[in-house]
Amino acid sequence: MKKRKVIIDCDPGIDDSLAIMLALRSPELEVMGITIVCGNSPVEMGFENAKKVLWQMGRLDVPVYIGADRPVKREYVNALDTHGADGLGESFLPQVPGYRQTVSAVEFLACTLKREKVSVIALGPMTNLAELIQKDKEAFLQIDELISMGGSYKSHGNCSPVAEYNYWCDPDAAALVYETMYAGGKHIHMVGLDVTREIVLTPTILEYICRLDEEMGAFIQKITKFYFDFHWNWEHIIGCVINDPLAVAYFLDRNICEGFDAFVQVETQGISIGQTVVDAMNFYRRKANARVLTKTDAKSFFVLFLSRILGIEAEKLDLLEDIV
Ligand code: RIB
Ligand code: CA
Repeated sequence: MKKRKVIIDCDPGIDDSLAIMLALRSPELEVMGITIVCGNSPVEMGFENAKKVLWQMGRLDVPVYIGADRPVKREYVNALDTHGADGLGESFLPQVPGYRQTVSAVEFLACTLKREKVSVIALGPMTNLAELIQKDKEAFLQIDELISMGGSYKSHGNCSPVAEYNYWCDPDAAALVYETMYAGGKHIHMVGLDVTREIVLTPTILEYICRLDEEMGAFIQKITKFYFDFHWNWEHIIGCVINDPLAVAYFLDRNICEGFDAFVQVETQGISIGQTVVDAMNFYRRKANARVLTKTDAKSFFVLFLSRILGIEAEKLDLLEDIV
């Protein structure tokens, strides 16, 4: 099977970590590198957390590059209230020493994208991608497919009534990415809250993971406990919305989400800062620059997610029929 080459740009982050795990356990993918951006966690913390996940997965062969430590314009606002003081659910896993690369995230993105056909799965604020556009737009437009966990079409925001965190944290970066995709005649795949809110890791699903693989279950339990508490305290749901792994699952299997093509802009100021304005009715008579995903099937996601991270054939995960 010819592997598809990907770079994961992320802000680990609990759900980013689960997404990295899924990508690493998917044989269709060759993870060329992980680039870190400030978001959930400050960038240095995100770097440390990415290494902890790679260590856990036995994949310290994958390089991790440090990117932007602040948004393009806005003051940086982290999401440690959601992801814990260590950015990994206050699991306080042991640090993985060294492993610092000699080039920055943007330098790695630029030279890799100009050398070979690579897709980017963006799971955090798109500050690194905006910097890439500013420094080497030609390299940015070489991205084979750009999948972004971010934005929202009809679902309410998660850090304002209308804005999703990744695009709210750095709206100028998101706006520049969407504008550049429009100018380049390309489509970004917007895996927004409309679909990711359907992906809830429940205590029962977690218990099932633990029963099937004690070590993997214990690791996921350790990094998600804080996230479960956050979701109960703030959204009164039992379980936690794991946004980022859906972006990876969608890259692996497009049938996992449905949506439509539209012209999308990102608001960069005022009370709706960070909102994705999806022109579903084509009022602006602009060609589409985005594939906006609006429906997903949580059961199909969890079958893919568990089968990959546990290495179990999908057909054997029969209990998911009843618990998702
Ligand atoms: O709004 C959810 C997104 O913001 C996820 O990617 C989460 O990890 C945070 O980055
Ligand atoms: Ca993220």
